Amino acid sequence: MMKDSVINGEDARIFYDKQKHYNAQKYDATRVYELIKPRSTLVDFGCGFGYLEGVIHKKVRHIFAIDESKAMIKQAKEHNYAKNITYMVGDAADSGLPSRSTDFVIMSFSLHHTSDKSKWLREAHRILKNDGSLIIIDRIAANRLAQLAFPFYWHFSYKQEHKWKEEMPKLILHDKIRELLKRNGFRFRSMKNLTFENHQLFKNKYYPRHVVVARKIETG
Ligand SMILES: C[S@@+](CC[C@H](N)C(=O)[O-])C[C@H]1O[C@@H](n2cnc3c(N)ncnc32)[C@H](O)[C@@H]1O
Repeated sequence: MMKDSVINGEDARIFYDKQKHYNAQKYDATRVYELIKPRSTLVDFGCGFGYLEGVIHKKVRHIFAIDESKAMIKQAKEHNYAKNITYMVGDAADSGLPSRSTDFVIMSFSLHHTSDKSKWLREAHRILKNDGSLIIIDRIAANRLAQLAFPFYWHFSYKQEHKWKEEMPKLILHDKIRELLKRNGFRFRSMKNLTFENHQLFKNKYYPRHVVVARKIETG
């Protein structure tokens, strides 16, 4: 079901500016920039206010950037617009884009928003070309212990700046991501931990994030 996002566009900008997340995410976007092929097409599920588009649009032929929040899309059009970006208000579980039409699907800090991750992955699989790839940037815990320990780390690191419980990220388990990818027609290719890169952008505190690359397993 479509709904407007909990965090609206302006709140998100203030939040990200305050935390310097925007700079850090721009930095992460350069990682995506390195992974994608020149002149390819790309679909971004949960684009937010389009920081990724602002960085990578120069390398690709076209980006379709989807977000369920009208406020986010409005911000994206105002701040990160280029001719080869089409911003759309829509649902990542049902994008309405044609089957086998894109080289890359990206989910940057958006997959953890949905309780039905398989739906997003199946939709990504449907719209990807047979040799297409999925790139996920998200908060991933290496194992159950890391997942359980995280709230303590978060509390002590960020309690001054965050409504710590409400804004605490949920970590997805590494094994869970791999299982979901397999179940929904993807071959896991790589996972890189970005947590310890450029942590000065997070006021020298570590913000967990990984980039996962998976390849679509071809269908008939
Ligand atoms: C934490 S933000 C991440 C935004 C951006 N990708 C980034 O990395 O900064 C998550 C975004 O996912 C969007 N979102 C959540 N559920 C969605 C859905 N079902 N379809 C499309 N977008 C969705 C939210 O509106 C929000 O803008």
